[in-house]
Amino acid sequence: MERIKKLTLEEQIALGSGADAWHTKAFPAAEIPALQMNDGPHGLRKLVDDTELANNNKSVPATCFPTAVLSACSWDPALLEELGRAIGEEAAANGVGLLLGPGVNIKRNPLCGRNFEYFSEDPALAGKLAAAFIRGVESTGVGACLKHFACNSQEYKRFNSDSVIDERTLREIYLSAFETAVKEGRPSAIMCAYNKLNGEHCSDSKKLLTDILREEWGFDGMVVTDWGAMNDRVLGYQAGCDLNMPGGSAYQEKETAEAVKEGRLEKSLVERSAERILRLADRAQAVQKGRPPYDAQAHHALARRIAAESAVLLKNKDSILPISEKTDVLFIGPMAEQLRFQGGGSSHINPLSLSQIRGLRPDIPFVQGCPLDGSSDKKLLQEAKKAAKKAGIPILFLGLPDIVESEGFDRESMKMPVGYVELIDAVAEVNPHTVVVLCCGSPVEMPWADKVKTILFAGLSGEAGAEAILDLLFGKANPCGKLAESWPLRYEDCVSSGYYAAGHKDAHYREGIYVGYRYYEKSGREVRYPFGYGLSYTTFAYSNLKIAADMVTCRVKNTGKADGAETVQLYVSPPEGRSYRAPFELKRFQKVFLKRGESKEVCFRLDDRCFAVWDGAWIVPEGRYGVHIGGGLKDLSLHGCVEKNGVKWKGDSVPAWYLDPKGAPTHTAFEHLLGRPAAEIRARKGSYTMDNTLTEMKEDSLTAKLLSLLIARGMRKKTDDGDSPEFQMALNSTLDAPLRSLQIFIGRENMSFDALLAFINGHGIEALKLLSKQS
Ligand code: BGC
Repeated sequence: MERIKKLTLEEQIALGSGADAWHTKAFPAAEIPALQMNDGPHGLRKLVDDTELANNNKSVPATCFPTAVLSACSWDPALLEELGRAIGEEAAANGVGLLLGPGVNIKRNPLCGRNFEYFSEDPALAGKLAAAFIRGVESTGVGACLKHFACNSQEYKRFNSDSVIDERTLREIYLSAFETAVKEGRPSAIMCAYNKLNGEHCSDSKKLLTDILREEWGFDGMVVTDWGAMNDRVLGYQAGCDLNMPGGSAYQEKETAEAVKEGRLEKSLVERSAERILRLADRAQAVQKGRPPYDAQAHHALARRIAAESAVLLKNKDSILPISEKTDVLFIGPMAEQLRFQGGGSSHINPLSLSQIRGLRPDIPFVQGCPLDGSSDKKLLQEAKKAAKKAGIPILFLGLPDIVESEGFDRESMKMPVGYVELIDAVAEVNPHTVVVLCCGSPVEMPWADKVKTILFAGLSGEAGAEAILDLLFGKANPCGKLAESWPLRYEDCVSSGYYAAGHKDAHYREGIYVGYRYYEKSGREVRYPFGYGLSYTTFAYSNLKIAADMVTCRVKNTGKADGAETVQLYVSPPEGRSYRAPFELKRFQKVFLKRGESKEVCFRLDDRCFAVWDGAWIVPEGRYGVHIGGGLKDLSLHGCVEKNGVKWKGDSVPAWYLDPKGAPTHTAFEHLLGRPAAEIRARKGSYTMDNTLTEMKEDSLTAKLLSLLIARGMRKKTDDGDSPEFQMALNSTLDAPLRSLQIFIGRENMSFDALLAFINGHGIEALKLLSKQS
């Protein structure tokens, strides 16, 4: 590109790091424009002030669509494409050239604080939905940025933990969703994750960013770091990491220029990255300058439709729902007034037009029952109990409060707050027709499930969620969502519960491929609600399974009393015998809308990848595979088989646990699976590096302890709400960020991090020398 050649080396390098929190640098003399990028996955979060990284109160109003935890339950790529298009239109109207979403990380454990932003525990579902979302965004001229690449499935120590994982699990589970999203969605950009992957920072990883992403999958866009994730700029260029965000890292630019001059880094790699950035910035100019308007009302209506077509009816004993308008209904619970409709962190939207259950139906009586934070309040509880006793149908609106689920930290438990549970128990005790509407971004334990008649999972349903919920309750819409993740009975049932996050800096993916339903099915462990599950006000019947070569067809009929939609799911099971494979794997799905009495033929094409495992390459082990079709993993009504003349494969040459996984795998079994030791290396005072965080270092360094205290105190003083998820995230993002990331945000010019590190390590004289050098 001629324009890149017009830049000096220093300018080419400068183009590779942000101008501020949300732009690349412009070089008008060379006609190089800036690219504007903003979050996020379920609506536009464009901050009013471009230098600010986060400020929930100051972002441009935008439609808040349902978050991925809910929209994924639609199982409807066409709907996700519409969603992507609408968000793209809002980005375009606001002059944003690159949208930082969608997130396609796999839900490895229900406690990940950011699960609400991700689609599924299953790579096939997550990949297809992400690809559709991307196609929608890209169709508006705005680029989509797929994130967080890769293995970023926990918030605990997210900036510097090491995701240790065997190659097969990496390929089959954690990369597979990215692969589909890249190949079928063709995003303009991909964001590399904060964490390390098998000891290497994602931003440094040529294997990830070039060998797999570009060479195997054909990605031809730009790689950007997550904000502050760049480890080593020179390695980054060599790996194929093009853009370092946000700005403030002039020292890295200087080091990069020196590396080129000393022959340690090829200039062509800097130019190549600069070209990729420019290509995207050029494309973005049409929207950045054009700013075509969008139809806010239509987007609100779409948000409502997505919420209605995604909510999952978990239980509906005696067909309590839909409720007739004549029924004597009582609304209970703080979320009827303040619906929990989105999660915390960088995806937080300033909604254009937020509706509330109470506001929409002021005619229906209401009692609060307990405070919004889920604490218990005896007076409110008694009041609710009294009112519920007299009501025809009491409907409870509750779930998880804001402070529990956010980017920046994981949930502490899978339990709902005690006040909510007390309230459900009390109402169910006095009224046998109790309905619960659950508003939360991830599964919760439901010891009360058998006591109530009906449960509707509304997830985090966006600004029109209240309208959608009422549509479903009163029968204007028919529920058709299916769970995109398993809901365990209790947290301990989850295979990684004993070793996930807390206490372990590194994330050891000990369970291998047994994530979500793959584990529950293989171990025979019961769950509260299985993957793919969801009820409707109508019923469906399956028939006529035909398998011919690679084509599978069946017929599905609406046999009930209402029009409705069904998600036809196809799972493949491996050849019989002991092997390290999941008993069922989702391979295809299709959502069909059927009028009452109507039937349709559904057709799937299976390719070799549907039967393949990763063993250095994708191979299809020979044998007879099962093909199962139905409306959910536990609701498979059609069964057939396919014979594959594949390769002979030793599927049982793994430690015993992986053949018969009961309980949790041991660390030793995991090391055998990995084929190498996987010890967590714990640095100590004297050996801390720029990759360590103040939280880690304060354990044995007084300097780090004092600094942490001062920072926490200073931050607390500046906030009016120290209990908010925003504050918690900001605090964690500071104290849990490695010095390397803090240096990117603050800039070496403003503070000598080398000197600070030397002080923390107890090397006072060296620190003083470094300080005097700087001044
Ligand atoms: C998040 C990203 C987000 C970025 C910019 C990071 O902390 O992990 O998902 O896009 O900030 O807000």
